[in-house]
Amino acid sequence: MKKIKLGENLKISPIVHGHWRLQDWKLSKQELLSLTENVIELGITSFDHADIYGDYSCEKLFGEALSLNKGLRKDIQIITKCGINLLSNKYPERIINTYDYSFEHIVTSVNNSLTNFQTDYIDLLLLHRPSPFLDPEEVAKAFSYLKQSGKVLHFGVSNFNPQEFAMLASYLDVKLVTNQVEISPYCLEHFENGNIDFFLEKRLKPMAWSPLAGGKILSPKTEKEQRLYSCLTAIAKELNLSSIDKIAYAWLLQHPASIIPIVGSGKLSRIKNAVETLNIKMSTEQWYRIYIASLGNDLP
Ligand SMILES: NC(=O)c1ccc[n+]([C@@H]2O[C@H](COP(=O)([O-])OP(=O)(O)OC[C@H]3O[C@@H](n4cnc5c(N)ncnc54)[C@H](OP(=O)(O)O)[C@@H]3O)[C@@H](O)[C@H]2O)c1
Repeated sequence: MKKIKLGENLKISPIVHGHWRLQDWKLSKQELLSLTENVIELGITSFDHADIYGDYSCEKLFGEALSLNKGLRKDIQIITKCGINLLSNKYPERIINTYDYSFEHIVTSVNNSLTNFQTDYIDLLLLHRPSPFLDPEEVAKAFSYLKQSGKVLHFGVSNFNPQEFAMLASYLDVKLVTNQVEISPYCLEHFENGNIDFFLEKRLKPMAWSPLAGGKILSPKTEKEQRLYSCLTAIAKELNLSSIDKIAYAWLLQHPASIIPIVGSGKLSRIKNAVETLNIKMSTEQWYRIYIASLGNDLP
């Protein structure tokens, strides 16, 4: 599987495996290792985490699985995030969710992640969400330190709009190599808010979280979900495909912005479906039919 170049020395797989729901999969260390080895076998070598996933547990679970096959580390790219102070029993002093992008918080969070993953370096660190209280000089200091110490190799953001991205980038002496945002046939927000245009302008390859809208488009309840389901089903039939998740991935992969879907399933057969879509070609009209089914009205 051809890798995608994000930064000077960073290549990731065109499909990433997301570990947000890892705790729900209830896998033993050995089962998680086997799943990971099978996922790598499919060509997916990049794994998406955040410090807070699974109430601060997922990074450690993955690190424990990796420790059973230490040779794997050099073959994979670990992506993780920092910046959200989540309400949690692990932090009883917190009374609300807040964001913290101070030098101290970013560095402490990365040190915790390194311990959790049982590794010396993070391939890609993302700021999880934009903050109304972000001091870009603190972020710049933290990123410089983390880069120079070799603890983090590359940096990016998540859920930023173009203005937030450009502002932060202007303070940094490292490059922001991606922005991880929600994109799916269900979520068109970034086609409408200028982010996709910004990615194209800056030659940035975005990562798409919840590419199946968290599974919503596969078990439709609302009118919009039903519209999309019917449309995806019709196109799957036209393309002779057995499952409509493939159409959703293909819709993302075919877009000119080089969107990198993050697959959130814990089931190998479903992850395999995503990989198989790399060769699917839908027509431009089919792409627009999905867009319009999501919008709920025709284009002018
Ligand atoms: N940066 C951010 O703010 C942010 C926010 C949310 C997520 N993320 C990242 O994005 C990743 C993906 O998000 P997501 O989990 O919401 O992705 P998703 O692929 O949209 O949804 C995955 C969910 O859909 C279910 N599902 C039902 N039918 C499926 C099928 N045919 N194929 C695949 N999945 C099916 C899965 O269950 P099964 O496991 O049973 O298959 C799973 O619960 C996360 O793991 C995380 O790494 C980032």
